[in-house]
This record gives sequence, C-alpha cells and structure tokens, in this order.
Amino acid sequence: MMEHVYVESLASHVGQEVHLKGWVAGKRSSGKVRFLLLRDGTGMVQCVVTPGADSASFSLAEELPLEASVEVWGTVREDARAPGGHELSLTRVQPVHIPSEDFPIALKEHGVGFLMEHRHLWIRMRRQVPILRLRDGILWASRQFFKERGFVATESPILVGTSVEGTTTLFTLDYFGRPAYLSQSGQLYLEATCAALGKVYWIGPTFRAEKSKTRRHLTEFWMLEAEVAFLEHEGNLVLQEDLVRYIVEYAASEHAADLEALERDPRVLLDQVSEPFARVTYAEAVQLVREAGVEMEEGDDLGAPAEDAISKHFGRPVFVERFPAQIKPFYMKRAPDNPHQALCADLIGPEGYGELIGGSQRVDSEEELERQLREAGLPLEPYKWYVDLRKWGSVPHSGFGLGVERTVAWICGLAHLREAIPFPRMLDRIDP
Ligand code: 4AD
Repeated sequence: MMEHVYVESLASHVGQEVHLKGWVAGKRSSGKVRFLLLRDGTGMVQCVVTPGADSASFSLAEELPLEASVEVWGTVREDARAPGGHELSLTRVQPVHIPSEDFPIALKEHGVGFLMEHRHLWIRMRRQVPILRLRDGILWASRQFFKERGFVATESPILVGTSVEGTTTLFTLDYFGRPAYLSQSGQLYLEATCAALGKVYWIGPTFRAEKSKTRRHLTEFWMLEAEVAFLEHEGNLVLQEDLVRYIVEYAASEHAADLEALERDPRVLLDQVSEPFARVTYAEAVQLVREAGVEMEEGDDLGAPAEDAISKHFGRPVFVERFPAQIKPFYMKRAPDNPHQALCADLIGPEGYGELIGGSQRVDSEEELERQLREAGLPLEPYKWYVDLRKWGSVPHSGFGLGVERTVAWICGLAHLREAIPFPRMLDRIDP
C-alpha cells in the first residue's frame, strides 16, 4: 500500500510515486494531455494525465466535474513553472464522490451577495484557503509568543452580566428571567485571573451589536487579550509591539506559500515592522489628521477617515496615546500628570487597516474605579466583584485586546473583514 501524502510535502517525494486525496479544483486540456488541478487543504498540485495513463483514468480526467472528490496516484516531478513548484504525472485516478450538479461557484466572477450566501462552499476557493491557513498561523504564533513568555491562557465567560465597552453595542439575552449579555471583551475577567497567575491571555469570540455596515466591523469577532500584573503603560506598548512583530515574522517565514497565493509580498509586511512602531499623542494625531484635510473636532474619537490619514502618514504601525478620558471606557487609569487623559493607546495598522489593538493601564484604586463607574453612568452593583479586585493586593496592571480579523485582513491584504473569518457575522448576515 502506497502511503497517503499531502500536497505540502511533495518536495520531499520528488521522483517517487505517491498517493494523494483531495478535490478537483480545476481542469483543462491541451492537445492529447489533460490537466487536473487537485487541492487537499495543504496546497494545490497540477496533475498531468497523458494517454499513457490507464484508459479509464484518462477519460475520468476529462469527465470529472469541479469539486469531485478523488484519490490519485502518480509520480512527483519538479517543475518551476507549476503552481507550488511540483507536478504529478498521474497514473491512476479514482473518484470518491462525483457531484451530480454543477458546483455553484464557477471560476468566473460572482457578486459578494452570492458568495456570502454560499460561504460554506466559497471557503474552498482559491483565495479563501490560504486566508484561513494564515488565520490559523497567526493564532498559533500568538499562542507560541505567550507560551515562550510564561503567560497562562485563561478563559473568560461569553455569557456575562456586565458591559465592558459601553452599553450601546450590547447583545442582550434572557438568562432565566434576568437580562444577560454576550461578552464584548474578556478583559474584566482577565484582570481577575492576572491577580492569580501574573501574566494571562486568551483568544476568544467577542460580540458587538454594531449597527453600521463597514468593512472593519463584525458583530462577532475574535479578540486576543492579554493582561499583566505589575505592568505599566510603557511596558504594555513594548509587549504589543513585540507580539505584532512576532506574528508578522512567523507569517512571513512559515506561510510564504499562502502569502504568495494571495499575491501578498512578505517583504512589504516585514518592512512595515522592521523599525520601532511610531508613537503620537492624541493631540498630535488630531493635528495631523486636520493637516491631511480630514475634518475632526478636538475630543472626537478617531473615525475611519482619521485612522486612514494617520496610517498613511506613517506607513508603519503607530500607537496613538493619551486619548481624552471622557471618550474612553471607565476602567482606564488616568495619566498622573493630566487627569483628563487616559493612560491608553490604540495601535493603528498600516495601509488603512484601522485600529488593530486597543489597550491601557487599568485603574488600580478602589475609590477611583467607583468614581469612574459613576461618571460613566454605570450601576455599581454588577461591578462589585470587579471593584473587589482593588481591595486585596491591588497592583498596577495593564493589558490590551488585538482584533484577530483586522490583523488577518492586514497580513493577507484583504479589502473587507468578511473574508478573515470562516463564517462572518454582520448586521445583515447570520447565515450560513
Ligand atoms: O478597542 P477595543 O474595544 O478594546 C477592548 O475591548 C478592550 N477591553 C480590550 C482589552 O484591553 N483587553 O477592541 C479591541 C480590538 C480593536 O482594536 C479592534 O481591532 C477589534 O478589537 N474590534 C473589532 N473587530 C471587528 N469588529 C468589531 N466590531 C470590532 N470592535 C473592536
């Protein structure tokens, strides 16, 4: 029995006969030769079928429709012109399942609405596979980064009784007769676990009832959050910068083939993170945005046009620090030299990918926290446990949340977040 191998390992089987299993992703003929493009999740390989192959296989190669599942046998040949650098001289093909209807997504252009309705099938297509592989790589690299630095992964609940990021984007549900919400961020719970474990992180789904349709917002998205005891604002920025650089370097070195399939040049990404990230204060950012011709009032949050102007100006990731405290959430510590500013930073990505990370040093005094909760118009009772964290051994601590889909979109060079997650949830989409 010949061993089943995957497309990604063909380089170590040159000249050998191998057995592959996958799906027909394309086919064409040229004279007496048939070409079958086979994909198996790890990559694509062109199978060349000459009349010398067994005759049943030769006619099958002509008849098999797109997305038929097959097993094939053949010899691996190096070919610099072939996608992936290898070709298979096919000797035998055996169908596993032959669809009786045409695959709805042809190799022609389709509208976005149609593709979204067929998302369950669209994810098999040429660009979608490398995007999902890169998403996996980005998450894997993040876990590796935190593991190397001694962080402990701790999960936050999804069903919660309190809001973190304001009450306007809460999904409310009935929890056995009382209101509950889908979590907007695991941060408050990470602040509790960091007091138990020192350095913690988690990667999980978060929810925002965003009522606007933009290319940067999903209603369900994944966040990578970290929280560190005895860490202050400055150290928090260094940690974020190290993480982002680590992710980019990992993607460039371990996912070169996926980036190539997306026509995303890894050198561009590596260039963007090669220097220290830029830093500006909110006040400087406002000035810069206005100079770029974008209207913005002092005290406004950064909208998409403002973020784009900042992104364009620097051409590399940039931290915007010290936002006005009144436009930031209740949990952020105020700057010691200016109580109107929060000790926080948003990391704006290059190429107009918007805010990749939001982070801050947290309020560590019980009294201050209660005051800020009141100022935010929030009831104290549901946050009692959170205030408790400041009662026993309160320490300076900081953390951040990185938007997974925005990071995937940037690294893959995507125009919209909907392709950065297998099944996007947006204002007008909950199926499939
Ligand atoms: O800036 P945000 O709202 O920060 C927090 O939720 C903090 N509690 C995180 C923390 O400090 N632990 O969100 C963090 C990141 C944003 O920078 C953005 O990348 C992403 O989450 N994000 C979204 N991504 C997709 N769709 C949305 N609707 C998003 N809202 C935020």
